[in-house]
Amino acid sequence: MSSLPYNSTNSNNNYKEEFTNSNNVEVQDKVFLVKGRTLTRTCPHQGCTLNYKTEQNMFVCPCHNSKFNLDGNCISGPACPSNIRV
Ligand code: FES
Repeated sequence: MSSLPYNSTNSNNNYKEEFTNSNNVEVQDKVFLVKGRTLTRTCPHQGCTLNYKTEQNMFVCPCHNSKFNLDGNCISGPACPSNIRV
């Protein structure tokens, strides 16, 4: 397997993450595709755009740090108990 295609330049307020297909998750503008399942990137808390964190293998909200697993379930943060399945 190749290394994870995760490139991140993270400088606090101005960060950009670039992704290509990984083994498990495809990151698109509005959604994540996880093994054929579509998950929204819109955080159910206040609508920020979720990011995929390869090192944690979960989706994390940059606004208030809600975290979602690859099934789309909220596992911590103020967005719980909402999920991101569509
Ligand atoms: S908008 Fe995502 S946790 Fe608040």
